[in-house]
Amino acid sequence: MFQWTDQSMDWYEQAALHCDFHRRVACLAQPYLEGCDTIADLGCGLGYLSMELSSFCRRMICVDVSTPALGRLAENCLRRNITNLETLEADWTLWQPHPLPDAVVLSYCNGLGRNLPVLSRLAGKVILSIMPASNEENDSYDLNRYLPQRARYRGRENHKTVVPVLQALGVPYQETPFSLPFGQWLRDEEEVKTFLEYYFDFHPTASQLEEYLASHKAENGYYLPNVKHGYVVAVKVQDLPPRLLKGAMDDVESL
Ligand SMILES: C[S@@+](CC[C@H](N)C(=O)[O-])C[C@H]1O[C@@H](n2cnc3c(N)ncnc32)[C@H](O)[C@@H]1O
Repeated sequence: MFQWTDQSMDWYEQAALHCDFHRRVACLAQPYLEGCDTIADLGCGLGYLSMELSSFCRRMICVDVSTPALGRLAENCLRRNITNLETLEADWTLWQPHPLPDAVVLSYCNGLGRNLPVLSRLAGKVILSIMPASNEENDSYDLNRYLPQRARYRGRENHKTVVPVLQALGVPYQETPFSLPFGQWLRDEEEVKTFLEYYFDFHPTASQLEEYLASHKAENGYYLPNVKHGYVVAVKVQDLPPRLLKGAMDDVESL
């Protein structure tokens, strides 16, 4: 189960603040959210996408199980004077909102492929999922020349695994692909080492580290390039087959 630490939240914030990833993803999502008065971001994490989406709706509800992540989001909302966003500490799979939000959003969270019946009971109009294109590495952080094919994201829902499920269930969907930078800025050599160890269990030799640092030196520290390849996938609740709306998981489980 995904868990935030102070360190991983700091890294994510550093990356998010130095690029326009969330603003651009929000712009790609906006056409699917037309007319949605209330949007809920399920598994919102630090809420960088939620903060962008909040400008498209009257009420933004951010649901997560992580107290520290929601705490940072609340602080950032105060700082940015965002007043229509509320945080809710809850497991979204058990959440029973009244009234229903018009749209639910999942971003880099499993759900669309496995939890469609639950999602269909949480959204009035639209279920939107932002997901990686695949779980294969795309040379993120320039690590392919040092590490063998990595399986870091095993089990993470992605476009390659979700689309066959939607097709098999006869669920119509619309999608928009994206490839957007989300590189990592790090302060010093020590932080580069900690980052590589934390996310990739990579312990470079002295010469590998020297080469890696030299090729990623940036102003005031280091920059590790990374591009997120993904899709915005939208499903209209009214298009869901009636057997899904009854809540039967059998078809989904057997895929
Ligand atoms: C990989 S992070 C993605 C965060 C954010 N959506 C983003 O795109 O940056 C997954 C998030 O989902 C939260 N999460 C996982 N399962 C959850 C559940 N059942 N209910 C609520 N939050 C959940 C985790 O705490 C974490 O913040």
